[in-house]
Amino acid sequence: MKKLVVCNQKMLLARDEAKLLRKALDDVDLSKINFIVCPSYINLDVFKGYNLGAQDAFYEDKGTFTGEISAYQLSLLNVKFVIIGHSERRMFDNEKVINAKVKAVLRNSMTPILCVGETKTDKSLRRTSEVIKRQLETALSGVVLDDTQEIIIAYEPVWAIGSGKCMQKEDIEDTILYIKKILSMLEISNYKIIYGGSITPKTIENIRNELVDGYLIGNSSVVLDDLNMIIKCIK
Ligand code: PGA
Repeated sequence: MKKLVVCNQKMLLARDEAKLLRKALDDVDLSKINFIVCPSYINLDVFKGYNLGAQDAFYEDKGTFTGEISAYQLSLLNVKFVIIGHSERRMFDNEKVINAKVKAVLRNSMTPILCVGETKTDKSLRRTSEVIKRQLETALSGVVLDDTQEIIIAYEPVWAIGSGKCMQKEDIEDTILYIKKILSMLEISNYKIIYGGSITPKTIENIRNELVDGYLIGNSSVVLDDLNMIIKCIK
């Protein structure tokens, strides 16, 4: 199976920069991976023709919610994936909201990319398993997938995101197996698990492993040379 490569462009690109990246991306061989690009809302159209993801979505379909963008609205723009519960957004959303967002994404026929992961403090207090279990249980509470639906779990240790610190392969594997166990307890079987956090041309060699279905790439996803090197290493 082709590995998923999800590019989280965060808020890193102005429109002109996004257009330049799009042009350059068109010359990259993406045939051996399953490539998903998650631009800022305002740059979604720039990446038309690619598998499109959004970086968040509001849970109500329509209404008086100034400044919000709903999963429903995104689905009309040909968005197929939505990142939910990214650690850079969890400070605005409690777990109930994250659960509602996951359901809204599924309701609108898109695939949620649900981010889970421990902070540095959780790690030092050896609370990783407990935190991940709680995040999965709350976000997926009441979620029942039909045969056509899937969920992507992105395991991203918060301390690894944007820090240049990469997790040991063995630790990633242990956590992936743990996530699989929790998903089975929750009776969720249509899923993929990807890993993210400081994936760069330098770290990918150490991180790369067979247990994961793919990778979530942040900062390196907007630097074409870096992205190219990472993709070559993955496939
Ligand atoms: P990073 O970001 O690759 O820059 O660490 C990953 C993410 O935020 O999803």
